[in-house]
Amino acid sequence: MTQVLCGQVLTYATSPFDGAPTEAVQMHESVAFRDGMIVGVGTRAEMMALDPGAQVTDYGDRLIMAGFVDAHVHYPQTAIIASWGKRLLDWLNSYTFPEEMRFGDATYAGMIAERYLDTVQANGTTSVCSYCTVHRTSVDAFMTAAQTRGMRVVAGKSTMNRNAPDGLCDTVASAEADNQALIDRWHGIDRLSYAITPRFSPTSTREQLDMLGALWSANPTCLMQTHLSEQTDEIAWVKSLFPEARDYLDTYEAHGLLGPGAIYGHAIHLEPRERDRLKETGASLVHCPTSNTFIGSGLFDMAGLMAEGQRIGLATDTGGGSSFSMLRTMAAAYEIGQLTGTPLHAAQLLWLATVGSARSLRMQDKIGNLAPGLEADLIVLDLKSTPAIAFRAERAEDLWEAIFPTIMMGDDRAVHAVWVNGVRRVARTAQ
Ligand code: GUN
Ligand code: ZN
Repeated sequence: MTQVLCGQVLTYATSPFDGAPTEAVQMHESVAFRDGMIVGVGTRAEMMALDPGAQVTDYGDRLIMAGFVDAHVHYPQTAIIASWGKRLLDWLNSYTFPEEMRFGDATYAGMIAERYLDTVQANGTTSVCSYCTVHRTSVDAFMTAAQTRGMRVVAGKSTMNRNAPDGLCDTVASAEADNQALIDRWHGIDRLSYAITPRFSPTSTREQLDMLGALWSANPTCLMQTHLSEQTDEIAWVKSLFPEARDYLDTYEAHGLLGPGAIYGHAIHLEPRERDRLKETGASLVHCPTSNTFIGSGLFDMAGLMAEGQRIGLATDTGGGSSFSMLRTMAAAYEIGQLTGTPLHAAQLLWLATVGSARSLRMQDKIGNLAPGLEADLIVLDLKSTPAIAFRAERAEDLWEAIFPTIMMGDDRAVHAVWVNGVRRVARTAQ
C-alpha cells in the first residue's frame, strides 16, 4: 500500500556547502512511498494523485526528512560508552579490548546488537556503518539484528594481528578466511553490505595489511573502513612502527588500502600530502565530533576540508563518542565549528548527518535524502519536544531558527516517528 506522510518535508537539491546553505534545501507538503521506495515528494494533492487509495498520516508541523546515517560506529562498545578519563591508546587497552573479548559469545553479541540498533533507531538513525570485533559471531549477530529490522547497514570484522590481546588477534590466514566467509554470507544480502575493516595500522602487520588490500581488490564492491590520524600519540606510534611510510595514510596506501570506497574515521591531524591523496582518490573522511572531544583527540578541519572538495560524513563513533544520537553529534560539530572560527549552518549540519554520510558510504543513490527512487527511510522530528526547546522555538522567525534548538538541545524525545524501508518502527504516539 502507498503511504503518504504530510508535514514539513525537507529535501536537498544540492549541497549546502556549495553556495548559500538554505538554497540547497527544498520544502514540500508531503512524501509518498510504496514497497520500501519513495515514489514522490510534493503537495498533498500531487501525492494523492499517485494513488488515491494511499494511507495518509498527517504529522502537522513536524519536520519529515531522511533518517540519519551514522558513518562510523563500534556497536560492540555499547556497554562501555562514557568510560572515564583515558586517552585513545589507554582507553582501548583499559575499556575497549576487555569488552570486545566478550563477542565470541553469540548470545552476548546478539543481545548487544539488538540493544544497540533499537537505541539508534529510537534516536532517528536508520543506517550505520559499524566495526564489529575480531569474532565472526560479532558480525553474524549484527547483520542478523539489522536484517530483522529492515535496516541498510555496513559492517565488518575488526582485523588485528598485533598490539592487542591474544583473544582479539587473528593471523593473516585466518583473517583472510574469516573475511571471505563473511563477505560470501552477508555482502549484498537484503540491505546489508560488508566493509573490510583493518582496525588501524598499529594493530596489523604489513603482511596482514597486504592481505586485506588484496582481498579488497578481489571484492571491489565492498567498502574499506579504518582509522586515520586521530591522536598525536597514535601518529607518533604509527611512525615508529612504519618508519618507511611517508605519513599515516601511506601505511594504508602502500598496502592497497586507499581508493574510492575507503572510509577513514577521524582524520584530524592530516599532512598536506595526505589531504591531496584523499582528494585525488575520492576516499571519504568521517568527522566524529563527540569522540574527538571526549577522548581529547582534536578539532577536525571541516571548513578547510570541505573547501578543498573532500568527501565527508558525520558519525557518533559510539562508544569512543559519548552519544548514540546524531542530534547530539550535530551539536558537537557545531561547537567544534565555533572553536575553529567557522560555525556550521543548520542546513549544513542536517546535510552532513544524511546526504553527507550517505555519500561517504557511497550510498547516496539509495539513502540520505527523500526523492523518487531512494529507499524509504524517514524520520519525523518534533521541533517542540521539551518545554525549553518549545519555548525557544516559539521565538523562531524562520524554519532554520525553529530547527536549530532541536539540533542543539534535542534528544530521542524529539524523534516522533521512524520509518525504515517503508515500515514504521518507532512511534512516540499512536501515529
Ligand atoms: N582507533 C583504533 N580503534 C579505535 C576505536 O575503537 N575507537 C576509536 N575512537 N579509535 C580507534
Ligand atoms: Zn572508531
